[in-house]
Amino acid sequence: MAATFMGIEWQQNWGDMVIWEEFYNKYAPRTLIELGTGRGGMAIFSAMQCASRGMHYHTFDNNAWFDMNGALSSLLNIKGSFHCVDIFSDEGINQVVGIINQAPRPIAMFFDNGDKPREWSIFAPKLASGDFCIVHDWGNEFTESDIGGVPVERILTVISDARGPSWKSMWFVRK
Ligand SMILES: C[S@@+](CC[C@H](N)C(=O)[O-])C[C@H]1O[C@@H](n2cnc3c(N)ncnc32)[C@H](O)[C@@H]1O
Repeated sequence: MAATFMGIEWQQNWGDMVIWEEFYNKYAPRTLIELGTGRGGMAIFSAMQCASRGMHYHTFDNNAWFDMNGALSSLLNIKGSFHCVDIFSDEGINQVVGIINQAPRPIAMFFDNGDKPREWSIFAPKLASGDFCIVHDWGNEFTESDIGGVPVERILTVISDARGPSWKSMWFVRK
């Protein structure tokens, strides 16, 4: 059976949610931009965090894979945060960059699309010093060499390095 959050499918590891909680508590970002809404479980988790903390929330996918009118989606107005666009098209790049340029800072960007090195290479350089980059499938779909010339420093290292092997995210601050 697929992994779920609140009964809604996601592609995350439950253990990472402790690190997300620590991240929000410690660094207090004001905007979350999520690349890769997927089947909705992580979007629900992210939207709950943003609603609770008064953050702005945007989630991007080129497919609407789940019921935006479901009980939790409606409660959290996922529809209002969802941008259905190919993020590698001119229109998609303009939409993401438009939000980066106008959203309250610091911004946290979660890279969990189908091509993490590509989305990182386009959008991570557009973030500013003090913003945050969180990349999924670290060490697998995205490795140290994919960071390229983007000036970042790992954060939450102790709690992150204590994890066993599994799908996992890694947290960075833009320098
Ligand atoms: C790994 S899944 C996201 C998983 C989700 N974050 C979760 O935890 O459940 C990747 C998503 O990226 C979307 N995607 C792939 N290529 C895309 C593109 N060019 N533009 C926008 N979304 C894309 C897919 O539709 C898919 O839902």
